[in-house]
Amino acid sequence: MKKHILLIVIIINLLSCKNKSSTEITSVKTAKELLNARYKKLLEYPLDSLAFPRSVNLKTNTIKKVLPKDWCSGFFPGNLWQIYDLTGNEAYKNKAKEWTAYIENEKFNNRTHDMGFKIFCSFGNGLKHEENEEYKKVIVESAKTLSTRFNEHISSIRSWDFNKNVWQFPVIIDNMMNLELLFEAAKTSKDSSYYNLAVKHANTTLKNHFRPDNSCYHVVDYDTISFQPRMKVTHQGFNNESSWSRGQGWAIYGYTMAYRYTKDKRYLNQAEATANFFINHKNLPEDGIPYWDFNDPSIPNAPRDVSAGAIVSSALVELYGYTNNETYLNYSKKVVNSLKSKNYLLNEDIEAPFILDHSTGNWPKNDEVDEPIVYGDYYFLETLLRLKTLRKKID
Ligand code: GLY
Repeated sequence: MKKHILLIVIIINLLSCKNKSSTEITSVKTAKELLNARYKKLLEYPLDSLAFPRSVNLKTNTIKKVLPKDWCSGFFPGNLWQIYDLTGNEAYKNKAKEWTAYIENEKFNNRTHDMGFKIFCSFGNGLKHEENEEYKKVIVESAKTLSTRFNEHISSIRSWDFNKNVWQFPVIIDNMMNLELLFEAAKTSKDSSYYNLAVKHANTTLKNHFRPDNSCYHVVDYDTISFQPRMKVTHQGFNNESSWSRGQGWAIYGYTMAYRYTKDKRYLNQAEATANFFINHKNLPEDGIPYWDFNDPSIPNAPRDVSAGAIVSSALVELYGYTNNETYLNYSKKVVNSLKSKNYLLNEDIEAPFILDHSTGNWPKNDEVDEPIVYGDYYFLETLLRLKTLRKKID
């Protein structure tokens, strides 16, 4: 008799699970359809070697288009490569290749540290999809150019060349993101000097960019005679001591990625400490999408920054892989669910090659505030891919 009751309970449970999963499938499918409609806008966007879409002002309906030398040029081809990966549709791959080719000359541009963003997000993504000797050569040549910005005494890569009357040798936390290009170039070329340089930069940043609470400064300016930090300030945050959300994102992503290549525990510890600062912050909204700066006094009325949430969500899928800490994975899943909702997804009717709304580029300059921005989409797509890979591993 007891056995019969147990059997009935199991059958009821199975039936209720079946119902639950079919509801989930329906809602995922709807989100998928909406996403596919947005993806199509990227595919349809007309090719132009001098007009990479960077953001859109929805009030004036104007797309900001930039040249290959802009730090954001690599994200659009990167988005097409990643959509190809998600959908398997060859049309995205073909478009990605065409846009990627337009950036090649940037491999010689030594006036910027943004080489990783430009070259790795485009050519680097291409290499994930095909063996391509030409792409490998571009990566190595770019690493060679980026290396010319390294100062042996300061043990860092110089970030910016502007503002010379204020800064001597500015290094920004964002610069951590360019190290992936150097690590990959070292593997491809078997020249360990790129690896060593990346490690030196990461060590110097580790020493000087972080505060006792594990948040980070945006800019550390070094003295070119004593080679020591001479000021710790912000350029895009609310003030020098505030925590600019995207900067925290670059730090979390940067040290997680640096741990991938080096297995240096100090990098893992820093990634975790800054991730904990971020996800446990009292000003982080319930849906996981941060305000543009954790210390903007106008919170809760301050603009959000979807890009910061997406960068951190992507990084935390990887960090989960090294720590098994479910809190990290839960944050990433929460962000993806929020971003797939109507609160953040761009309406199907908006004719612009972007997926998500509500990123904030440069609040102090009132530039690209609360808008769709190409790198918000990039790290969102990367999170989707990383979660997909994780699911495949678990199955
Ligand atoms: N790397 C520039 C920015 O994050 O806005």
